Amino acid sequence: MVQKLIEKFKELYGGEGEIRRYFAPGRVNLIGEHTDYNGGHVFPCALTIGTYGIVRSRGDRKLRFYSVNFEKLGVIETSLDDLVPSKEAGWTNYPKGVMWAFEKRGMKLSHGLDVLIYGDIPNGSGLSSSASLEVLTGLILKETYGFDVSMVDIALIGQDSENNFNGCNCGIMDQFASAMGKKDNAIFLDTNTLKYEYAPVVLEDAKIVITNSKVKHSLVDSAYNDRRNECEQALKELQKEVDIQTLGDLTEEEFEAHKDAIGSEVCRKRAKHAVYENQRAIRAVEALKAGEIETFGELMNASHVSLRDDYEVSCEEIDILVDLAWKIPGVIGSRITGGGFGGCTVSIVKNDAVDTFIDSIGRAYQEKVGHEAEFYVVEIGDGGHVI
Ligand code: GLA
Repeated sequence: MVQKLIEKFKELYGGEGEIRRYFAPGRVNLIGEHTDYNGGHVFPCALTIGTYGIVRSRGDRKLRFYSVNFEKLGVIETSLDDLVPSKEAGWTNYPKGVMWAFEKRGMKLSHGLDVLIYGDIPNGSGLSSSASLEVLTGLILKETYGFDVSMVDIALIGQDSENNFNGCNCGIMDQFASAMGKKDNAIFLDTNTLKYEYAPVVLEDAKIVITNSKVKHSLVDSAYNDRRNECEQALKELQKEVDIQTLGDLTEEEFEAHKDAIGSEVCRKRAKHAVYENQRAIRAVEALKAGEIETFGELMNASHVSLRDDYEVSCEEIDILVDLAWKIPGVIGSRITGGGFGGCTVSIVKNDAVDTFIDSIGRAYQEKVGHEAEFYVVEIGDGGHVI
């Protein structure tokens, strides 16, 4: 596949000069949702699907981008002197945003690039195609210009570009998972301190199955930024009573004791989710380490209920998928994953129930919703790397 991309690259841009190749993965979050901008814990893992980049340095300041996923757009030409967001720039706002964020940190890009991109993450599925493109770009810049940045720096730079160039106020989880992923491990990350630990995901007789509702979400246009503001509001009100820096500092008991400090019912529900979900993520990792996979599954299910009822980031189609999954014997746990308002569910399914899971949910979903769902039985892969 990479060979084909290189051939396409040469066809578009000519065959001379050194061509380099890179990959950065998408991610699925197992538990700890909407906690990463609330100083809580997350537990994502990198996937083996992601975004590929084929790159060659240029002698001038031109940037030429081509995406195999958006063939109709052809080669998009711009320059290092035009690193400003624009509607017309479309998908190239992501790599341009990362370039802008490097330059902002004093890492000047001395020459332009020819770039070909190909991603095998379904767009808008909530599996972080944009974060993988950001991490990929960070890696390309680090390697091409020899910048002294770590993979954690690349994740932070990616988040900065997403927040301040592309207008989505996301947390650090997606970029961190794409940059720091490790094969067969999930990352237990404290988003408050960026301390992390790898936890092996050993599911002897089970698989991780992602189900794509094929309802596209758009984080920028969606209520994502509203959720963030509601949590900030709740935190401000709680801080009048308790000495905390983030919602992640509270236990469930402390939250219950002080929740009346939050004036609005909606903000109270949002904060409740953030506090309880953080504690669920901590407990889930303990359960996984202890080999208590059933407990892990129950915590995933509880996470879904909280995201559905208190955080209100699910939607009808996703609830249908999760309800169907919960009824199938051999399903250990199932929940919405990612930013929400569509996208995917993540389920842990016993090996011998995987076929039934796909067949029966596939059929019932089509009947109820009127379009197909897609299923991916996934492997946990490594973070961004040079190929
Ligand atoms: C999106 C954001 C992440 C995180 C999740 C919800 O994927 O990019 O930072 O907030 O939603 O957990």
